[in-house]
Amino acid sequence: RSFLQFVGRGTIITIFGGTAAFYYVSQKDRHPGPQLPLDPAKKTLVILGSGWGATSLLKSLDSADYNVVVISPKNFFLFTPLLPSVAVGTLSPRSIIQPTRYITRHKKRTVSVIEAEAKEVDPINQTVTFTDNSEIQGGISSTTIRYDYLVCAVGAEVQTFNIPGVKEHACFMKELADAERMQRVFMDCLESASFPGQSAEEVDRLLHMVVVGGGPTGIELSGELHDFLEDDVKSWYPELAGKVRLTLVEALPSVLPMFSKQLIDYTESTFKESKIEILTKTMVKEIKDKSVVLQMPDKSIKEVPCGMVVWAAGNKPRKITQDLVAKLPEAQKERRGVAVDELLQLKGTNGSIFAIGDCTATSYAPTAQVASQQGAYLGRMFAQLARKEDLRHQLNVLEEAIKIVDQRPATPTNDTNTNTSDTKAEELKELVSAKERIERLLNKTKITPFHYSHQGSLAYIGSEKAIADLPFMNGNFASGGMATYLFWRSAYLSTLFSLRNRTLVATDWLKVKLFGRDVSRD
Ligand code: FAD
Ligand code: NAI
Repeated sequence: RSFLQFVGRGTIITIFGGTAAFYYVSQKDRHPGPQLPLDPAKKTLVILGSGWGATSLLKSLDSADYNVVVISPKNFFLFTPLLPSVAVGTLSPRSIIQPTRYITRHKKRTVSVIEAEAKEVDPINQTVTFTDNSEIQGGISSTTIRYDYLVCAVGAEVQTFNIPGVKEHACFMKELADAERMQRVFMDCLESASFPGQSAEEVDRLLHMVVVGGGPTGIELSGELHDFLEDDVKSWYPELAGKVRLTLVEALPSVLPMFSKQLIDYTESTFKESKIEILTKTMVKEIKDKSVVLQMPDKSIKEVPCGMVVWAAGNKPRKITQDLVAKLPEAQKERRGVAVDELLQLKGTNGSIFAIGDCTATSYAPTAQVASQQGAYLGRMFAQLARKEDLRHQLNVLEEAIKIVDQRPATPTNDTNTNTSDTKAEELKELVSAKERIERLLNKTKITPFHYSHQGSLAYIGSEKAIADLPFMNGNFASGGMATYLFWRSAYLSTLFSLRNRTLVATDWLKVKLFGRDVSRD
């Protein structure tokens, strides 16, 4: 009995303690304290973007060292790995975004957050021009500011290869609004197929969903769509469920080229079991209002009727990135994005512009993992840069003082015990030794190049299965299945930037487990 009492008390203390700690952390997050004001003596650091690279930089940056300005058309950070879950209603859109101000308000010095799109960067005059593109605008909607340092973290945009009809008829899977739109279109297809008197042919068309691109985005989205069909559509649209078809179209000979062969085979066999058809070596040539035009492996052309097409065929540089490349023709030769050196400085500039993430052309894959490591690196690098500048300033002051003391005449004093030339020599000796100490510190404050540490690749493939290629003892550990799915969930839950997002996502998962996904179309 006493053992049970002991366990009971322990449980109650744990629950109360945990709740109190949770409450304390959430309240501390909600009510940030006062911040240092902007300081005209500090350099201005402008960050373009509020995605993976920019947010990771903001997190690690010591804002006391700079006057920081963040410019982005979105005033939030979007946790892209869970975007396909929003598209099928597993997660609520708000659960995977984090307002940028939730981060900047916790920094030591005030950070200006400006919701605007950067339109032009002038690397010579060190200025950036930006415009407020939102629906409601004040008297001024475009302006130019000067920067000392600029970090370009604007990401990339959807690559359509100018294929006819993509922009007009396909859904994308890049931004939050894309996922919300796809959910609406999908539900619309189901409701239209349920309309009385719909012909069998039309029902077939409306219920054919095509995903273009066998990269991780296309695969994860197909997996999520399959779960939605199995777990919810079957229950609420029993007359339609067996008729919905999913087709994944990939131009290359296999899907997921970045994963090991074993995991590609595993994904393909899981998709086969899930009745998701994969068409490899098949290229989308055109998207029409009610069909998709495919070039088949034998080069024949086939027009396939469908209700919805999701375009997940990769990325290309944004206009602002292309313009920046064009402004530095000598040093910038890449078309994939801006070229940077090992310190992530833009090639062809004087060290005032840095670039990170998907807008760069590097040997790394355009992933969140790379962008966030680059952002964190720049945060540390800017701290080193500030320290170096501080030391250089101290060095200048000491050099000036040495000059002044050196030029001072050794005038006699009334004090018979003091030799004035000795005093001057001693003063000089002290100053020179201080100068040498600062020089040593300056030499020691080396800015080391960026080093990427690959933590592995993870992807959800539906049916509560995920795949993972993880680096292991100089080799690779490949795993796929249910256990990997639990690992995938916990990895992403812990990667979410805040307690608030973790709580919202975990609650959404629980809600879906208990009540299923919502099938209403807003
Ligand atoms: P982004 O995160 O795209 O951020 C760019 C920012 O710049 C945005 O805030 C945007 O609003 C802003 N911006 C755009 N134009 C301008 C402008 N003109 N001026 C100022 N700001 C501008 N990677 C992984 O490693 N693991 C995953 O599981 C994973 N899953 C993904 C799932 C999906 C559906 C998608 C689409 C991508 C996924 N990625 C994943 C890739 C990952 O999201 C990107 O590599 C990552 O977002 C790149 O970070 P970034 O900071 O360069 O760009
Ligand atoms: P992607 O570039 O990786 O894949 C796009 C695919 O579309 C390519 O395989 C390409 O061959 C195919 N394609 C292009 N045009 C086509 C056409 N006309 N017809 C048929 N197929 C066509 O793009 P994705 O998947 O959006 O990924 C972008 C980046 O984000 C990648 O670096 C990826 O690693 C990363 N990412 C990582 C995830 C993860 O780690 N779980 C999840 C999602 C994205």
